Amino acid sequence: MADLKTNYLGLNLKNPLIAASSGLTNSVKDIKELYDNGVGAIVIKSIFEEEIIAEMNKSLNQTNRPGTIYPEIFDFFDISDMEDSVSLYLKLISNAKEAVPIPIIGSVNCVSGDEWPVFVDRIQEAGADAIELNMFILPSDMTRPKEDFEQVYFNAVEAVKKVASIPVALKISYFFSNLGQTIQKLSETGIQGLVLFNRFYSPDIDINKMQVVPSNIYSSNAELTLPLRWIGMLSPTAKCDLSASTGVHTAEDAIKMLLAGAKTVQVASSFYHNGIKQASDIISGIESWMDKKGFTTIDEFRGKLSSKGNINPAAYERSQFMKHFAGK
Ligand SMILES: Cc1cc2nc3c(=O)[nH]c(=O)nc-3n(C[C@H](O)[C@H](O)[C@H](O)COP(=O)(O)O)c2cc1C
Repeated sequence: MADLKTNYLGLNLKNPLIAASSGLTNSVKDIKELYDNGVGAIVIKSIFEEEIIAEMNKSLNQTNRPGTIYPEIFDFFDISDMEDSVSLYLKLISNAKEAVPIPIIGSVNCVSGDEWPVFVDRIQEAGADAIELNMFILPSDMTRPKEDFEQVYFNAVEAVKKVASIPVALKISYFFSNLGQTIQKLSETGIQGLVLFNRFYSPDIDINKMQVVPSNIYSSNAELTLPLRWIGMLSPTAKCDLSASTGVHTAEDAIKMLLAGAKTVQVASSFYHNGIKQASDIISGIESWMDKKGFTTIDEFRGKLSSKGNINPAAYERSQFMKHFAGK
């Protein structure tokens, strides 16, 4: 019988399937359902750095909010809602911990390491087993040097590592000028994990309404090839765990990521499409495949098709459809 036990961020998971941070990890009811359907761990919906800063300023009685690096955010958000959401967030973590016996990972959407990391203490106190930093800064400022933009990620990690006694994972996008090198360097900062990659709201155009509209909120599993390539290339050298996110919808998708070298896989869209029960199908699908192939533990096949294990290392580096274009 296949044993799916996995160690991720130093935590013991009964299997490598993680419920990714989303609207489906935002209530105890859904968290229980995810647990009942077998997920190995859950990343709670992100709280925003801005919400944390609003709460911090409130406790300092700074009604006019001086000192914050985000004065403009108060034009967009209702301040009392932001303060409430912090207490609700901490309560959700502690309620989730009481409700289910699997690791609960807190998540902060952050764009700096400037003020909010002191708050990590409260996330730890609330009982989170680890923290995932969901960082994304769209490199759209054409005047900002790329080193400056990339440095923000390293600063945030350093600031959080100073206060965190629980493991830290960083969830990033693929918008870096030198993606492979940046992932490698981030993996050497002392964090325990990197989540590759987040998937974002992206604009589309409705040609009938002549409007810019949101594109698909949910992924398809055709999108899995992007994280697959980078996990396949970097899992042999990365100095921390790699967790796959984007495009994992089925057991087959999850197995591909594990073969490329991922420690865990994170799923959001497939649960929206197929219901949370999809989690048990993914887990039983991994088990049956392992039984069929004669693997008893995940370590026996993890990374077997990474750039190190693969007999043809060029497979992950190839980028042109030479034969296809040459043919027709
Ligand atoms: C409705 C929705 C809400 C999400 N909210 C968050 C969030 O709060 N924090 C975060 O890090 N990622 C969030 N994500 C991104 C997912 O965690 C995941 O990285 C992304 O959807 C790619 O995985 P998938 O292909 O399984 O959907 C959200 C995704 C969806 C669809």
